[in-house]
Amino acid sequence: MPKTDPDALSQMPDGQPYADQPRWRQDFPVDVPQDTYISRREFAKFLVLTSAAFTTGQFWILWENWRRQQEPAAPVLKIAELAQIPVGGSLVFHYPTPDEPCLLIRPDANTLRAYSQKCTHLSCAVVPEVERNLLACPCHHGYFSLATGEVLEGPPQRPLPQIVLEVRETAVYAVGVELRT
Ligand code: FES
Repeated sequence: MPKTDPDALSQMPDGQPYADQPRWRQDFPVDVPQDTYISRREFAKFLVLTSAAFTTGQFWILWENWRRQQEPAAPVLKIAELAQIPVGGSLVFHYPTPDEPCLLIRPDANTLRAYSQKCTHLSCAVVPEVERNLLACPCHHGYFSLATGEVLEGPPQRPLPQIVLEVRETAVYAVGVELRT
């Protein structure tokens, strides 16, 4: 149907008559009331889609929780004989999977600590500095406490995951990972 009176069909965004509009707007008039009109059907569709997304999210959370509960417990891994770890020394092992490097540190004769070797900033390998009682990340100068794994300085925001250790007779075992936030 030809437009005989554009003003009757279109209401300009600035409320001025059609004839006062710039040429580009005359060529492509926008009917503002029609353009901003939301029908009941559209609104219902929006509600249904939003509810569906929310419900899907809830089911996903339930599924993830269930899946994590089904994961096998952390393995028990013999790291080394106690006698192989010099006081003030450290060694690298992999736990709980072969691609997760960790550090076992013996700051004194009666203390053992183990942490993931991946810096919690961008995963560079941290290096123990036993004499300074810390673990240093050379990439961006992040520092972690050797006693707790907490961040002391630098860009990391989270402590290092701690490996739970057990000494059984003469050997040291990794028996779990303690994730901290
Ligand atoms: S990767 Fe360790 S401080 Fe950035």
